[in-house]
Amino acid sequence: MKVKVKRGRIDQTGDQAITLAHFEDQKKLTGLVKAIDERLSGMISHLLKNKDFVGRSNQTAIIYTQGKLPTPRIILVGLGKSAEFDWNGQRGACLEKLRQAFASACRRAKELRIKSFSTMVFPADLKGMDLAKVSQAMAEGILLSNYQMDQYKSAKEERSLEGFTIVEEDREKIKAIEKGAALGKVFAEATNFARDLANYPSNILTPTRLSLEAEKLAKENNLRCRILSLPQIKRLKMNSFLAVASGSKEPPKLIILEYRPDERLAKKKKYDTLVLVGKGITFDAGGLSLKTTEEMLEMKGDMTGGAVVMSVVSASAKLKFPLNLIGIIPAAENLPSGTALKIGDIITSHSKKTIEILNTDAEGRLILADALSYAKVFKPDAILDIATLTSAIKIALGTICAGIFGNHEKLKSKMIQAGQKTGERVWELPLWDDYQEFIKSDLADIKNVGGKPGAAIIAARFLQNFVGNYPWVHVDIAGVDFSEKERPYIPKGAIGFGARLLLQFLRDWDGL
Ligand code: BES
Ligand code: ZN
Ligand code: ZN
Repeated sequence: MKVKVKRGRIDQTGDQAITLAHFEDQKKLTGLVKAIDERLSGMISHLLKNKDFVGRSNQTAIIYTQGKLPTPRIILVGLGKSAEFDWNGQRGACLEKLRQAFASACRRAKELRIKSFSTMVFPADLKGMDLAKVSQAMAEGILLSNYQMDQYKSAKEERSLEGFTIVEEDREKIKAIEKGAALGKVFAEATNFARDLANYPSNILTPTRLSLEAEKLAKENNLRCRILSLPQIKRLKMNSFLAVASGSKEPPKLIILEYRPDERLAKKKKYDTLVLVGKGITFDAGGLSLKTTEEMLEMKGDMTGGAVVMSVVSASAKLKFPLNLIGIIPAAENLPSGTALKIGDIITSHSKKTIEILNTDAEGRLILADALSYAKVFKPDAILDIATLTSAIKIALGTICAGIFGNHEKLKSKMIQAGQKTGERVWELPLWDDYQEFIKSDLADIKNVGGKPGAAIIAARFLQNFVGNYPWVHVDIAGVDFSEKERPYIPKGAIGFGARLLLQFLRDWDGL
């Protein structure tokens, strides 16, 4: 989708539609909206007076301009109560309101089969507002709500928007708006890419296909890409990862994507190095601890963490972040078969720690254990992992936020802040030593499950055994990876949760 920023006035724009925003508790129309209302002989005030449109959050209404303005129609969108729009207190919440409002306007435009619309920056007269951040949120809302997956539909519904324009009269403001809109576009497109991969069915998106997608991203974004196949994974002694893959005929792949800032443009001698690890189970049947059909419905998306890592590393290259980034994605299928991992098996992981497998459906932690242990060869300043790890996190936190765990306060608080800024919120759960008790094995160093109570914490605690003392944060996205219903900027199906969260985290990175 094309994102344009143009100097001009919204009431002089002859686009297919223009959007205007309105607060629910706003007594009078002001500024340009007032001027437009006058030119339309009071059509906006008339609508408000009749209370057909009051400006509730995400409410929309269409006004036809009947030749009184260059544009044929106005999409009015509600921003809720201005009293709740606390820019200096709750900036993240304001940005989220804008993201949703512009997503709602975009949805309405799509319903009308409109291909492009123009907007200005709203709210127009808010003191201290950061234009770049607001433009970013607007662009994100529009691009995210424009997402559509119709590759497998014979009859395509021509309903997506081709572009939108932000119009601004003041020359001095244009730069900030351009910067924000460009950032929003990269953030949203990274999310939409992760959505695509997670929505692909597992017969198409196999570990091999995922690795080909990584190679494609590497070519497009000048990244280093290494795909390790079975013999190389064996040589690395990643037996915990291999054990999970052993039930399937699809060969596992270890995807390593690296971004390093361009040396010619280098501002520093040494950049911090961060490793991002993403769970890449392209289908999780549970293995011999077989899931039910109902439980398997979303399991083509069990590689969401991996998809997010792939899109974040490429978007970081697009945005030229001053950081060394290494994305590691262990990709495999978790299936039952005659060659599958069995209950009670003991394996020696990459870290040399032995693991007793008591449930083959707790496979995410097994592949991540080896990837996290391998991450240490890069001597990173921090390790982050993101995974659809446990159904227990969905029980604990619902579908509103992801769970985070970690061994480093500052790292965790950076992640929480990135969550507030992006609306991809995270909530911390504890990792006290007491939880280690539950994964003590009678026969091996550790076992892969530790009962139902606190299962999301126990899974995280299991991972901690493989990161050692490296600063580390684990994000469990199993409650937020799929949506059962449409929300303003979230489609039904894969959400792509985590791409904007990690991108914001990396953009704000200033060391530990
Ligand atoms: N991929 C699942 C977790 C999951 C569940 C993701 C629901 C998204 C939606 C994971 O591999 C799994 O099966 N976890 C088990 C662990 C249990 C056996 C200890 C779970 O959470 O039920
Ligand atoms: Zn599982
Ligand atoms: Zn899984």
